[in-house]
This record gives sequence, C-alpha cells and structure tokens, in this order.
Amino acid sequence: MTVMQPSVLNLKELPSDLDRNRLPRHVAVIMDGNGRWAKHRGLPRIMGHRQGVDALKKLLRCCKDWGIEALTAYAFSTENWGRPLEEVDFLMTLFERVLMRELQEMIEENVRIQFVGNLAALPRSLQDQIERSMTATQGNSGIQFTVATNYGGREEILQACRAIATQVQQGKIQPDEIDEALFSRYLYTANVCDPDLLIRTSGEMRLSNFLLWQMAYGELYITEALWPDFDRTQFHQALSAYQQRHRRFGKV
Ligand code: FPP
Repeated sequence: MTVMQPSVLNLKELPSDLDRNRLPRHVAVIMDGNGRWAKHRGLPRIMGHRQGVDALKKLLRCCKDWGIEALTAYAFSTENWGRPLEEVDFLMTLFERVLMRELQEMIEENVRIQFVGNLAALPRSLQDQIERSMTATQGNSGIQFTVATNYGGREEILQACRAIATQVQQGKIQPDEIDEALFSRYLYTANVCDPDLLIRTSGEMRLSNFLLWQMAYGELYITEALWPDFDRTQFHQALSAYQQRHRRFGKV
C-alpha cells in the first residue's frame, strides 16, 4: 500500500508542521532555470517556459489554498530584451495566450491580477490583454497576483523619483515630506505590502534588479531546483526554512 503525504490527501490543507500565524503575507519568485530544464531534456528552451507557466499556476493555487495574501512573479526583466528575438517573441505570445486562457478561472477563483513594469513598451495586443485581465479581476478580494513584466527595479525607483520631483516642482509636495511611506506609494507595487520571502530557483544568488526597494528586509530563499520542477513540496520546504528564520528588521 502506498502511504500518501497529507498534502496529497488534502491539497487545500496547510502542512501540519507549518505555523499558520507565521506564514509570509507576500511571497515573490524569480523563476529561473526554464532554459536549463529544457536543455537537460534535449528540448528547445521555449518548452521550459511552457512548463514554467504550469509551475507558476500551481504555485498560485497553493498560495491561495494555504492562505498567502500576495504572490509576485518576475516574468520578464528590462534586460530580457537582449535574448534571441525568437525567444522574446515566444515569451510575449505566451504571456498573452496564458492570460487569455486563464482569465475565466482567475475570475472564478477570486484572484486579483496586476502587471507591473514598463508596460507601454510591450506589444499592443499584450497590453490590451493585460488591461482586460486587470479590469476583469480588480474587484476580486482573493490573492493579489502581481506579474512583473518588462520590469526593472532601478527603473521603477527612477520613475518614482521623476513623479515625486514633478509634484515638488508643482508645489504639491514639500521635499521634507518625502519619507519611506510616501516613496513607496510611487512604486509600481504601491497597493501591496513588501515581500516577506523571495524565492529564487536554480541556485543563483542575486536579486537581478528585482524589487530592490521592497526587498530591504525580505528573506531570501535560494533553491537548486529549476523553476519547472518547483512544486508544492519545494514550496513547503521554502516556507519551513522561512519559519525557522528570526527576522530582526535591523534590531537586536
Ligand atoms: C527564466 O528562465 C524564465 C523566464 C525569463 C520566463 C519566465 C516566464 C514564465 C514562467 C511565464 C509567466 C507567464 C505569465 C503570463 C504569468 P531562463 O530562461 O533564464 O532559464 P535559464 O537560466 O536556464 O536559461
């Protein structure tokens, strides 16, 4: 007889070793290793991205089941335009198709989706689909799902500076009113709390220009697993590691 893991018996149930009261409110992910996952199987890189979408969808459902309030995923960085044209085109089309395919389910599952980044530089049809998805889910009260697309942390900070400088120039803000809380309101992520936990797959130990301001005190969890292999068991391990950390926020 096969002994089943409790998480397999009841997917909605939080594993019993995790403390419900000390879960991260906001989890962010750098989904690295799609290309390598495909290469190890003798497949084209794009197959890794397809499989990566599946892993992301499963993680979103898991976060929802386990009561995590927000999930943010780094789908495309401002530096990713430097990839071969066919791969960039494939990714743009993939984002659009995924959005179209999953929209109804996101509405039904009460997911609120938003895209952050320099969206104006994305293909027009993708911008339209993003707009539709955000509008259709904006009234939902469930998990906040943020997809960073054409996102760069430094660029995000610069656009906030420009916007604040304009307000100062117009006399609407006094320079000494600029504090952390005000600055945060000018970031793309103004409507969501800072991530408590950032997970990066495939063993790389960098932030890669992701959520530079927001990750000031966030915990980092790096796993060797490639993104398409990141599943509930891996997420469970990440949460267990997070719950063993002692967060001090610069205090003793
Ligand atoms: C990094 O792997 C992954 C990406 C650049 C793309 C990730 C995008 C998705 C999984 C799709 C998300 C879609 C929506 C609509 C939410 P890599 O190519 O850098 O892998 P490598 O490091 O092995 O080369």
